[in-house]
Amino acid sequence: MKHFDQSGAPGFYLETYGCQMNVADSQVVAGVLSRAGCRRVERPQDADFVLLNTCAIRERAETRVLARLSELAGLKSRRPGLKLGLLGCMAQHNRARLVQKAPYLDLVVGPDGYRRLPELLGHDGFDPAVEVRLNRLETYEDIEPVPEDRVRAYVTVMRGCDRFCAFCVVPYVRGRERSLAPQSVTNEVRRLAALGVKEVILLGQTVNAYRYGTTDFAALLRAVAAVDGIARIRFTSPHPLEMTERLIEVMATEPKVQPYLHLPVQSGSNRVLEMMGRGHTAEQYLDLVGRLRRAVAGLALSTDIIVGFHGEAEQDFAATLALLRAVRFDAAFTFKYSRREHTRAFGWGDTVPEDEKSARLAEVIALQEVIALERNRELVGSAVPVLVEGQARRGGALLTGKTPQFKTAVFAPLMPVAAGDTIAARVCSATSHTLICDQLVGEPGRQGLASAS
Ligand code: SAH
Ligand code: SF4
Ligand code: F3S
Repeated sequence: MKHFDQSGAPGFYLETYGCQMNVADSQVVAGVLSRAGCRRVERPQDADFVLLNTCAIRERAETRVLARLSELAGLKSRRPGLKLGLLGCMAQHNRARLVQKAPYLDLVVGPDGYRRLPELLGHDGFDPAVEVRLNRLETYEDIEPVPEDRVRAYVTVMRGCDRFCAFCVVPYVRGRERSLAPQSVTNEVRRLAALGVKEVILLGQTVNAYRYGTTDFAALLRAVAAVDGIARIRFTSPHPLEMTERLIEVMATEPKVQPYLHLPVQSGSNRVLEMMGRGHTAEQYLDLVGRLRRAVAGLALSTDIIVGFHGEAEQDFAATLALLRAVRFDAAFTFKYSRREHTRAFGWGDTVPEDEKSARLAEVIALQEVIALERNRELVGSAVPVLVEGQARRGGALLTGKTPQFKTAVFAPLMPVAAGDTIAARVCSATSHTLICDQLVGEPGRQGLASAS
């Protein structure tokens, strides 16, 4: 720890890649380093430690980080005291091999090693410090994450995944499922509420597989809903096989739990679903969607789709398009299959050529754009409560926020409105990704909340 600024505290710069769980983990990393007396800086040039918290889900995620690393290696050669560290899933996935690919790395730390960061950063040897042991007990329960957003915050409730879908590295890089005690979760939610946070998103790779003693995910949701000050609760990502009737019941009856679910399906072909080891058929998924929609009024649904999985034939892909048409998701995240080392499917090969994968991806995206636009247009004319986040990215004086269905709304404020306020708005027009709204004056946000849920 050589380079000190006037405050004497070493500065760390942290960049995050990948899913929400990584965003939440970066807040844990910030918590660990703050507790050790470090302070966060906004630019790598100002840092003593430059850390990248990385993702390994697809090859592209890794090539992006390697490119960024070689950029940062240039900075390091100009600043000899600087330490460069790679954290997260890619660290776990590549382990020591990373040091060969990127010899300028001082630190390689997997998702279960963050507690040791202060010690590892203090290590002054020629060899890089490597901590890539998975720890089936680590939940970081006692670490206070540093939230970045004062309106919406993530709360990790479980870590790891035991599902081992054939294509996926997550079980290998994040280890076995483990849940936090319900008391730790509610304490964290209470702490966030006291900071002014209005919405919490409970996180886990298979979040609804949460279990701690006799507390299942449905019971956890009820406990979180009992915390005063939190207006909205969401969770991600649920696995279809863990969508119990108890959980659907809580979604249907607990007003704070918002009518939106991201429910990954991956494929509409039973043959492909079987190969992937997802544990359900397309028909069972459609049945679940039907039960959810009957129970939860106005439920919005999004999903993940992989195209070009090993062995995916034309008719399998056609089944995916048919499923998208049958469900009519509000949004879909679509990916080309990327063959990943360590996974079960790695040894099977990669049968769909790259240009065919691209063509299928383009077709799925085009179909989903049409469906999303139709779905959003159905909302034109309705009143929606919008939890305001701040200024819209494009559009001068426009403000942006989310509806209960997690749709992005933009509106021109008619009176002073602050981030964290819930306002009532009417949808005037829609694109496939945004609702353009008018603020309704004289109608309190709570009333809007009741009318939409
Ligand atoms: N836990 C979540 C998914 C986490 S990964 C779940 O089970 O639903 C997020 C998404 O990335 C997956 O849903 C899948 O669509 C995609 N994905 C995972 N591995 C992939 C791979 N090898 N190639 C392409 N997409 C992949
Ligand atoms: Fe990956 Fe499947 Fe686990 Fe999701 S459920 S993280 S896709 S192995
Ligand atoms: Fe990526 Fe790790 Fe999340 S592999 S998707 S950052 S759990």
